[in-house]
Amino acid sequence: LPWIILTLLAAYLIGSVSFAMVASRLFGLQDPRTFGSGNPGATNMLRTGNRKAALLTLLGDAFKGWLAVALAIYLAPRAGFTESTIALVAIAVFLGHIYSFFLKFKGGKGVATAIGVLFALQPWLAIATIATWVIIAIFFRYSSLAALVAAVFAPFYYYLGGRVAWPFSMPWFLAICFLSIVLIIKHRKNIQNLLAGTESRIGQKKKT
Ligand code: G3P
Repeated sequence: LPWIILTLLAAYLIGSVSFAMVASRLFGLQDPRTFGSGNPGATNMLRTGNRKAALLTLLGDAFKGWLAVALAIYLAPRAGFTESTIALVAIAVFLGHIYSFFLKFKGGKGVATAIGVLFALQPWLAIATIATWVIIAIFFRYSSLAALVAAVFAPFYYYLGGRVAWPFSMPWFLAICFLSIVLIIKHRKNIQNLLAGTESRIGQKKKT
């Protein structure tokens, strides 16, 4: 059990590394918490106009989610991790991003990190979820709306895929549901803006 706690702590700390902060320092940009939506995430980094910084944020935040869960899966046979342990690691790295140890327990909204987590749990699930995001983003040009729709669909994809395409794990399903719920709650300001018609489109700099 102490090992599990140390593992969850490690996953939380990995998740706490905010690549929006890393990218903004690396590219000499303004702190993402001070402009646009104020969110330290890839979408807001794109509002600087620096696509490389936004891409680094997206890939970095996704990578850390993938890394923590992939490591847990890899170590599982040796360390005696169960499916539930891996589900908790998925939750820990995700919460690390949203309630970052390095950002006074504040952070991002979890979209990129959740995608990385899904990749480690089930690559086809990640691809289906990304495809959903891309389709909504192309049609509506709202990053937040695309994330919200993808978050609603991801648990259904995992459940349905578990009946036809891959082994279903209840702990993993519950973890995916948890990620989706927290992600949606973290988007409540975006939901208000979408309903009010004031949400900024992808790449658009101004935001109320
Ligand atoms: O990546 C988070 C995205 O869904 C919304 O970001 O900056 O528009 O609040 P933002």
